[in-house]
Amino acid sequence: MYTQNTKQKFDALKGGDPVVMGIESSCDETAVAIVRGRKVLSNVVASQIDIHVKYGGVVPEVASRSHTDAILPCVDEALERAGLSLDEIDCIGVTYGAGLIGSLLVGVSTAKAISLAKNIPLVKVDHIEGHICADYIDTDLKPPFVALVASGGHTSVIRVKGYNEYETLGSTRDDAIGEAFDKVARMLGLPYPGGPQVDKLAKQGNACIKFYKHGKGVNPDLSLSYSGLKTAVVNYIHNARQRGEEICAADICASFTAEAVDLLVDTALEGVRRSKLDTIALAGGVAANSYLREKIAVLGKAKGYKVFCPPLPLCTDNAAMIAVRAYFSAVEGKNYADMYLNARPGL
Ligand code: KG4
Ligand code: ZN
Repeated sequence: MYTQNTKQKFDALKGGDPVVMGIESSCDETAVAIVRGRKVLSNVVASQIDIHVKYGGVVPEVASRSHTDAILPCVDEALERAGLSLDEIDCIGVTYGAGLIGSLLVGVSTAKAISLAKNIPLVKVDHIEGHICADYIDTDLKPPFVALVASGGHTSVIRVKGYNEYETLGSTRDDAIGEAFDKVARMLGLPYPGGPQVDKLAKQGNACIKFYKHGKGVNPDLSLSYSGLKTAVVNYIHNARQRGEEICAADICASFTAEAVDLLVDTALEGVRRSKLDTIALAGGVAANSYLREKIAVLGKAKGYKVFCPPLPLCTDNAAMIAVRAYFSAVEGKNYADMYLNARPGL
């Protein structure tokens, strides 16, 4: 009822080339970006790492407060860097789930306020689909392909059938792979966020420890699981410490990484094979992992597949990927949202 004109403006974007502002605040990065299709005009990320590092992880209440402080300065900065005013924005895309409720609400409320005040159509964006759209930025990637999304909250193999058509082939039954990376890092006393620290240490170690045997190989339903491996590493470190034995953190990191990533890559490649496709695209914060990037590049190439990996800053949370996801919604007239849009933490 609030936005009759806005819906007409949205419908007029179909088949065009709109300028889209993306807003992302699902976890611990406040981010605003402006894109036109696959081209990024500005990409601003206000990271909260310095704030959460003293707690060893994200504190939800602290995260929402930081988003509240950072969001409008990020909007201003994104416009300034793109050399545009709000009147030149054709559409706003916002992450509405999954994520932390208090964090999501800051982005959703801000996007709704701008949409209402300036009569700019609003598009709702699923965070995971957003991650996949990082692979479109400055590339010629086109659906269909298989995406491997590996982040702090998700681990999924997804068949991307069209710009607005996603089918999950398999995902984790318990913990996300990034969660496991962060837990191992915490056990070893490495600072938050742990994934990049484990990545760095792993390069100095050998994958000589067998924590947990995935004897069966790829699961027939393409599901994954990380809680067993996570617990096995935790127990290994506890037991060694109780016996007063020295542990080699670099070997633990290298061994954990190999076990966590090898099955992930095999599962994703099986997803490509079953889908009878020839392209695989990596996405999510864990896609920044050097062992994963190398492994998928080597094995994918050996099978004759095209492999896409976003540059590191587009792997972790950012708003450019959210804006690109919204762009593809707008040009196909999908995912329009009105003033009743709410955050969906469990999306
Ligand atoms: O996509 P993202 O920024 O946020 C979520 O949507 O969850 O992913 C964050 C996750 C964290 O668990 C972080 O430790 C992990 O990505 N990560 C890494 C690396 N860089 C970030 N994990 C392994 N190796 C890395 N180089
Ligand atoms: Zn993410």
